[in-house]
Amino acid sequence: MTPTRALAYPSLAMHRLELPADLDKSGTYAELLASLRAVVEDEPDLIANLANITAVLKHGLADVSWVGFYRQIGPDLVLGPFQGKLACTRIAAGRGVCGAAAASRTTVVVPDVEVFPGHIACDAGSRSEIVVPIVYRGALVAVLDLDSESYGRFDAVDARHLEEVAALAAGLAW
Ligand code: SME
Repeated sequence: MTPTRALAYPSLAMHRLELPADLDKSGTYAELLASLRAVVEDEPDLIANLANITAVLKHGLADVSWVGFYRQIGPDLVLGPFQGKLACTRIAAGRGVCGAAAASRTTVVVPDVEVFPGHIACDAGSRSEIVVPIVYRGALVAVLDLDSESYGRFDAVDARHLEEVAALAAGLAW
């Protein structure tokens, strides 16, 4: 019998169990980063890896309603692998939080989406959001977008660690 792939990922197997309750935010991200590195290590396929990154983040982070990638395809950001409800498929250049992060190539933290000019409400339940750009060989290739149904869910600690995830993602086969 062929062993399951999951057996090759000790940190992922551990991750299936609940993370220790006393882990703080940085500790949680450290565990998730370790899982993510193990997951993408031996897999060359971009879409498979992006899909698993969204799964690990969605299930590993508390109070997150949507996690996904938008890839830069021509002038637009186009929906990629995600976890969560149905989302907007295509975002024109410079539009919304995603477009702002892509254009500035900086992480954008939005504590209250209702007061962000031009926010695109894919999900009426979303209250706060963070978008992190992914740059590969000098080009903006995608953004990583997380939404929450709570106001102020994302802060500088999330930004710092999600930028580590973006750096990991930037090393994939774009
Ligand atoms: N709110 C985003 C659009 C993508 S959804 O949140 C999944 C934006 O304003 O760019």
